[in-house]
Amino acid sequence: MAFFNRKKPELTDISQIELPAHIGIIMDGNGRWAKKRGLPRSAGHSAGAQTFRKIARYCSDIGIKHLTVYAFSTENWRRPEKEINALMKLFKEYLEEALRDFKDDSIVLKFIGDRTAFSPELLQLMEENEEESKDRDGMVLNIAMNYGGRAELVTAMQRIAADVKNDQLSADAITEQVISDYLYTSGQPDPDLIIRPSGEHRTSNFLLWQSAYSEYVIMDVLWPDFKEEHLNQALIEFANRNRRFGGV
Ligand code: FPP
Repeated sequence: MAFFNRKKPELTDISQIELPAHIGIIMDGNGRWAKKRGLPRSAGHSAGAQTFRKIARYCSDIGIKHLTVYAFSTENWRRPEKEINALMKLFKEYLEEALRDFKDDSIVLKFIGDRTAFSPELLQLMEENEEESKDRDGMVLNIAMNYGGRAELVTAMQRIAADVKNDQLSADAITEQVISDYLYTSGQPDPDLIIRPSGEHRTSNFLLWQSAYSEYVIMDVLWPDFKEEHLNQALIEFANRNRRFGGV
């Protein structure tokens, strides 16, 4: 066989492929899913929350080590109050359920984003879940809530500047790694794969720094309709990509 014609064989079975260490998911399409059914947008978010439960469990079961889901962006506060309240209710229900029912779970829960905007009750549930799950040995599930990639970078820059001012850090020592260490995802690998259902071709301010070399898989399915098979499909597509990280 010609040396230069060495093509990766097509991989089709997820048990044979190398899994990404970190998957990001932009859970998009809840509103359209509801509209198609003549339902309020909140019904789409409820269905989306069920899909989130199912897919997070599936990722953990198949051995994914880090999963980050985009649940609420810094821009989502612009939505009608009714919709925001419905989302907050869903977060509260999930966080209460996690504390109550996931005692023997292996999943480590983390929240990324500016949590100061949430109600004291939600904030407490977030902290309790992080504390309760921190010593587990399974998948790290990052729930991005009031998260924006730009806001994350601004916060990191402010903390870096403060540490330089206090002589905790020298300006010459600021490297890419140092910046990564000041982000919410500090200590975790960058996402290898980012899945965006609902067909939109945008990053929407999701993991801006961390996604520099992520493979994006855009899927033509609305998030509430997203099934384990769609995740498998994305994993197979990812496995068949040729990642070069700027090399050849
Ligand atoms: C984007 O779809 C989705 C959101 C802004 C909310 C995502 C939240 C969930 C799936 C619930 C998660 C729940 C927990 C417990 C983490 P969209 O509303 O912008 O859809 P559209 O583009 O079709 O209008």
